[in-house]
Amino acid sequence: MTFKKNILCIGAGYVGGPTMATIAYKCPQYKVTVVDIDSERIAQWNSDNLPIYEPGLDEIVKTTRDRNLFFDTDIKRGVKGSDIIFVSVNTPTKTFGAGAGMAADLQYWEKTARQIREYAQSHKIIVEKSTLPVKTALAMERILTSSDNEISFEVLSNPEFLAEGTAIKDLEYPDRVLIGSRETASGLKARDELVEIYANWVPRERIITSNIWSSELSKLVANAFLAQRISSINSITALCEKTDADIIEVARAVGMDSRLGSKFLDASVGFGGSCFKKDILNLVYLCRHYGLEEVADYWEGIVRINDYQKERFVLKMLSAMFNTLAGKKICLFGFAFKANTGDTRESPAIFIAKRLLEEKAELVITDPKALKNAMMDLYGIHENIRYVEDPYEASAGCDAIAVMTEWELYANLDFEKIYRSMGKPAFIFDGRNILDHTRLFEIGFNVFPIGKPALTHF
Ligand code: UDX
Repeated sequence: MTFKKNILCIGAGYVGGPTMATIAYKCPQYKVTVVDIDSERIAQWNSDNLPIYEPGLDEIVKTTRDRNLFFDTDIKRGVKGSDIIFVSVNTPTKTFGAGAGMAADLQYWEKTARQIREYAQSHKIIVEKSTLPVKTALAMERILTSSDNEISFEVLSNPEFLAEGTAIKDLEYPDRVLIGSRETASGLKARDELVEIYANWVPRERIITSNIWSSELSKLVANAFLAQRISSINSITALCEKTDADIIEVARAVGMDSRLGSKFLDASVGFGGSCFKKDILNLVYLCRHYGLEEVADYWEGIVRINDYQKERFVLKMLSAMFNTLAGKKICLFGFAFKANTGDTRESPAIFIAKRLLEEKAELVITDPKALKNAMMDLYGIHENIRYVEDPYEASAGCDAIAVMTEWELYANLDFEKIYRSMGKPAFIFDGRNILDHTRLFEIGFNVFPIGKPALTHF
């Protein structure tokens, strides 16, 4: 069968996999190939056990795989046979040299650009999917055009706005699709080709175009604004706990202002995930690079409040439990950075677990999807941690439960049974405000929500 277009994606991660599966699902007329250097990851994509958990993903991969969706390790063949190449390799925060801990590490990304240049034998459209510092497209153009061959490339920016746990829904019904291009004739032509792909299922008015730098910057700014809302509400939780105000009531009152809106105002133990911190630090680094110290400090404050919120949670546990956690058993309910994903990258639970271990507490960690990742995050720490999938078994014999992830299953547990099996006095620290606090108090627990008065029997 011949396909109308050949699409390649380099990078089979949380973005590349679901995005390409959706394109293949919505556009049977295109052939979509996803390549990655990690052969084990590709083998997983080709198996019944996909490397990532995402509601709805299994079904669409099952429908499209080997029909018009292919997973492969042969980058050379992939590049040769493609018209459009999406690049979604990871761009983690640099851990070494200049900009360590802040700037994006572009080594994988640059390697990819060089491979494309080496293997391409005809004109290609290159689509930046990875979140990158502003002006990366320029660097990519320079690498691609620095060879003697006559092949032309057009670089577009098409940032991904999907959130984990709702990736398929976000891809099927996006708020918007953003495509940035050069404003030259060939740039606009390439842009229109990409618009045409998305127009197969996204209403035209939701596909917006801009210059390429605005597109790159919009992604960083969107994530910075989202994280800013969480840090804003989380900063107020500290004040609520001092004043007997209730963060749920405050958030409701604030969020009903239609200028503000109600989403992303759920107070928490802190935000996690692979994007927020990394993208804000990227933005901060960019501002510092241009000498904009005040702007950099302003955005860096979002990350500082997040760190403060996590530390504050540990200190609250410590003071509530009579200023010592040594030898006490604490059960962490959830380890994923949010519900409906097994991903634990930058999860507040990692920080909290390490801090509790420093206080010499014993940990039991439970999570329906993230235990494997939790073990990797805490790799090398063998003492004082157990991993138990069943929350009843995990909490039995513990002195305290700390809710790290808003998994719905935790709200529906039989807490009377749990209370009976725990050491007394029994504590619950609800880092996500998902439990019925009054009920837990009536059962006998000492309850410490976030940003609400504690309910204690002392
Ligand atoms: C985010 C952006 O939402 C997405 O558009 C971008 O493409 C990638 O980064 P993601 O990291 O998957 O997506 O998760 P998100 O749902 O944004 O949650 C991030 C963190 O904030 C989680 O730890 C979550 O639990 C926390 N959060 C979210 C809160 O603490 N309170 C809220 O009200 C919302």
